[in-house]
Amino acid sequence: MIALIVALGPNNLIGKGNDLPWHYPEDLQYFKETTLHQTVLMGEATFYSIVSRLHKPLPNRKSIVATLDPTFHYDGVRVIHDLFSFLKNPPKEDIYIIGGKQIYQLSLSYVDRMYITHVHKEYEGDIYLNGIDFTQFDCISRRDQGDLSFCIYERRIASC
Ligand SMILES: NC(=O)c1ccc[n+]([C@@H]2O[C@H](COP(=O)([O-])OP(=O)(O)OC[C@H]3O[C@@H](n4cnc5c(N)ncnc54)[C@H](OP(=O)(O)O)[C@@H]3O)[C@@H](O)[C@H]2O)c1
Repeated sequence: MIALIVALGPNNLIGKGNDLPWHYPEDLQYFKETTLHQTVLMGEATFYSIVSRLHKPLPNRKSIVATLDPTFHYDGVRVIHDLFSFLKNPPKEDIYIIGGKQIYQLSLSYVDRMYITHVHKEYEGDIYLNGIDFTQFDCISRRDQGDLSFCIYERRIASC
């Protein structure tokens, strides 16, 4: 199963520079609970923004970094250079795509499930994730909390 987890603001805003436009501890907690002990896949930019904050990769998760840089190396981290062949033949374990924009965008058509935190308040930012086709997904769970709605979407099984 390939899942994507993202916080999505009005007009599909997801970022401000190399950071998030907002700070919601309850969303960070949700992210942690959802991804703990799982395998997380991210782009190089997202990986380095995590390492600059934590001084290490996300703890208690297996990190996979997508980069086109053949020299990329980080101890304990798996690297992939060919994102599409990885997504076409994913490993048996569940994969959680955690960003950023480029990696989300390239993965959209391979995703089986989406954990989307809808942020209902306006924020300033400049990075948008367009192209999620919600008509291909059913919302199977929704929890509203303040400015946020925590939703889980499952891809519809194509009928013949
Ligand atoms: N709202 C949220 O939930 C959320 C979550 C995460 C991130 N974000 C936001 O997303 C933004 C960062 O997004 P981003 O697009 O700059 O960075 P990114 O997706 O994390 O990383 C982009 C990198 O992925 C690599 N890449 C691109 N195409 C590839 C391919 N086909 N195969 C393998 N690797 C490939 C390239 O690495 P090389 O350059 O090394 O080749 C590219 O520079 C920030 O604003 C961040 O805050 C938001």
